[in-house]
Amino acid sequence: MTSEQTSQLRSDLEARLAPYGQSHVLQFWDELNSEAQEKLAAQIFECDLEQLGQLFEQKETASHWDELAKKASVPPAITLANFANAESYDAAWQTGAELLEQGKVGMIITAGGQGSRLGFDHPKGMFPIGPISEMTLFQIFFEKVMARANQFGSRVPVYIMTSPPTHEETIEFLEAQNFFGMNAQDVKVFCQGTMPAVDHEGKLLLSDVGEIFASPDGHGGALLALEKSGALDDMQRRGVEHVFYGQIDNPLVQVCDPALLGYHAKSKSEMTSQVVRKTDPLQKVGNVISVGGVVQIIEYSDLSETFARETRADGKLKLWAGSIAVHIFKTDFFLRMSETTDSLPFHRAHKKVPYIDAEGKRVIPDANNAIKFEKFIFDLLPSAKNAIICEVDPADGFCAVKNAPPATAETPAHVKQAISDLHTRWFKEAGVEVADGVTLEISPLLAADAKMLKEKIAADPSLGEPISENTYFQ
Ligand code: UTP
Repeated sequence: MTSEQTSQLRSDLEARLAPYGQSHVLQFWDELNSEAQEKLAAQIFECDLEQLGQLFEQKETASHWDELAKKASVPPAITLANFANAESYDAAWQTGAELLEQGKVGMIITAGGQGSRLGFDHPKGMFPIGPISEMTLFQIFFEKVMARANQFGSRVPVYIMTSPPTHEETIEFLEAQNFFGMNAQDVKVFCQGTMPAVDHEGKLLLSDVGEIFASPDGHGGALLALEKSGALDDMQRRGVEHVFYGQIDNPLVQVCDPALLGYHAKSKSEMTSQVVRKTDPLQKVGNVISVGGVVQIIEYSDLSETFARETRADGKLKLWAGSIAVHIFKTDFFLRMSETTDSLPFHRAHKKVPYIDAEGKRVIPDANNAIKFEKFIFDLLPSAKNAIICEVDPADGFCAVKNAPPATAETPAHVKQAISDLHTRWFKEAGVEVADGVTLEISPLLAADAKMLKEKIAADPSLGEPISENTYFQ
């Protein structure tokens, strides 16, 4: 750029920023080379400053959530395996199996988070979690999808959502691993958008002298990103009618479980959510509620303690249903929602965000200094026709890896133990003797659920020998 062009660009940017009190993002303009100036300018033009101002002004609406919680009940839940109602379970399983056989099911895995609590410097999907194999979260999910496709002799396409910080490395990793043996044509990696954060005065933060801080726009960013990336078109082209959704940090997800798919399809549900019975009123899971027949979720951080602790006459928790971020969507529902611009609201999250101060020095805050804005995918629930919820025993389907030690919950050690406990139980249920204290792991390609393991043992009785030492079955 010539110097006139540079100064013209600067004044255009100034005119854009000033009405919103954001001119400070240009304070290091003269120190930037022209490439960096153009990059910053592009970022500023992309920012919806009007929207950001409105989001900042919206005060925390505790009363809104309290009003909802006051009127809330929990929608009736269907219970999965290990629960009663075996007859309806078998019929549901059969319906789900037919959908899988006909190739009408796809899988979305959200893997755009930055895993900051885990302190892992790569995409979370690359974290080794197999208790013996040390296989990564990505491998577990890929193997589970392949196992389901093999079980029904069909294909199950996978759509992986990344974010700008995780995109390139995820693709490099998956390619280097040859998609763990999955047909590359059945894998689509798509990138979600970002959203700037503001400080407590509503000012944009700089992550570098020439860069506005922005972070992934929440798992709800999937809706727009699916549409923009062509993933929704791909689903339609393939005849995928139902999409199973799971988050990369929960390796216990019962990927494309036929029974869950069957209940969803039989109920003509546009969105089905799996829930667990909360073990602690303040458990950090979204609270699934129903108000006037509309199913929705109040995030744990939005539910005040009084309502979270409320009990029924029998002493049990009133709002007992915790969302584990496992859903099934109808593809048509995604399409309809992606055409409605405001279908997902932004939520505010108070976070620590390192930034560049007025002197150009990098500051690492020791307290929350920023408000991030994120969309949540579960906010689609109130718009879904015939939404249903299904309860699962957490031991069967939920143990997410969130924290590094010395945290006492949701650490890699907990998750490895949960995998071993589950696989040990599958062996015991199949009548196999397992010595106490043994660590077991089953490759999903051998068996991705208890039913598959029973079938494998029937076909190969050597698998049913008593187990007395730590073993990885593959
Ligand atoms: P979390 O916010 O719980 O995990 O997201 P995280 O972002 O990986 O880790 P922290 O919060 O920085 O410690 C739950 C799931 O949603 C996905 C994550 O990849 C994870 O599977 N996610 C979250 C996205 O895909 N995009 C986002 O913008 C946020």
